Amino acid sequence: MRSHTSQKAARFTESVIREMSRVCAQHGGINLAQGFPDFAAPAAMKEAAKRAIDADVNQYAVTWGAPSLRRAVARRTAAYNGIPTDADKHVTVCCGATEAMIAALLAILDPGDEVVIFEPFYENYGPDCVLSGATPRFVRLSGDDWTFDERELRAAFGPKTRAIIVNTPHNPTGKVFTTDELEVIAGLCREHDVIALTDEIYEYILYDGASHVSIATLEGMAERTVTISGLSKTWSATGWRIGWCVAPESITSAIRKVHDFLTVGAPAPLQEAAAEALDFGPDYFADLGRAYVERRGLLLPALEACGLAPFVPRGAYYVMTNIRGVTQLDDVAFAMQLVEGGGVATVPGSSFFADPSDGRDLVRFCFAKRVETLERAAAELVRRLG
Ligand SMILES: Cc1ncc(COP(=O)(O)O)c(C=O)c1O
Repeated sequence: MRSHTSQKAARFTESVIREMSRVCAQHGGINLAQGFPDFAAPAAMKEAAKRAIDADVNQYAVTWGAPSLRRAVARRTAAYNGIPTDADKHVTVCCGATEAMIAALLAILDPGDEVVIFEPFYENYGPDCVLSGATPRFVRLSGDDWTFDERELRAAFGPKTRAIIVNTPHNPTGKVFTTDELEVIAGLCREHDVIALTDEIYEYILYDGASHVSIATLEGMAERTVTISGLSKTWSATGWRIGWCVAPESITSAIRKVHDFLTVGAPAPLQEAAAEALDFGPDYFADLGRAYVERRGLLLPALEACGLAPFVPRGAYYVMTNIRGVTQLDDVAFAMQLVEGGGVATVPGSSFFADPSDGRDLVRFCFAKRVETLERAAAELVRRLG
């Protein structure tokens, strides 16, 4: 019998990150693997969602986003990111940043085009390239600040390059790209007439005075950047599946068409609630930042006490850790051993690299968890490894 599945689907595996959550549940472990909070979403946002359902906002919203949410995205993107944004021309609301990224890639790329991706990378970008028929060109981030070599980046740009994906703050490393680094990337985008797709989903989660810079604010970049963000991380609601992208008008109309035929639209009542949440005042964002500083402060010393060598994140809510101080196992075997018998679930480093052997010394911990969860995890880690 011939194969009834596509060659595309055969070219990537199931998500290792999501798989680790399933493994964790089987072992009754503490889930520091997948990037989602185990604490409540903001009460005012939940109330707004209930009100919207009761008011019968239960049918399709405008395909590219409820006007209230597009206006809120435009206000927030202009005020926080410094990107002048028109709700009617530039904003597309999607089912999470995940859909915004694949919709944008499908809108921009043709088969055979090349996309530059920094490695390690958030694992979705690999399958995203396969689905859009594009070839990824990986550029390594390395050293304690996970920076790139400018010559290597320049060499990755060629006649087939159509786009570069920039994720800042970065999953899995916690790197926050500096203005100087973004200027180098922007220069190459302008020189090669390339689009920047920037995944800024962790833009409000920053440490040690790091500041978030959107590449679209650099000279000549607004007209060649798709800026992606969403509700999942800043508003602790990964299950609501609300995200958005801001892009120039011509790219937005292509993205809206792709988005329409992919999903029609994001959940209508949750869009109304998201519109209210985006207008939360400065205290909300300050409290979010402080809570993550506390969580990071609980996990890092526990990892160090165990003999692990964590990279200190400057943004997002993950710690990438070298494991060689505690084991000779590879990343997958170590992660499996650590979760067994009610242990701690992590994500093996190999899932963030094109060549799995490049991640064999690394695992990633997520600290978007309650203090109590992190304290339990810390105690379990010290008991097993310390
Ligand atoms: C870098 C990055 N982008 C996107 C996502 C997913 O975002 P959403 O829930 O909005 O689809 C994640 C989730 O972990 C992520 O780490």
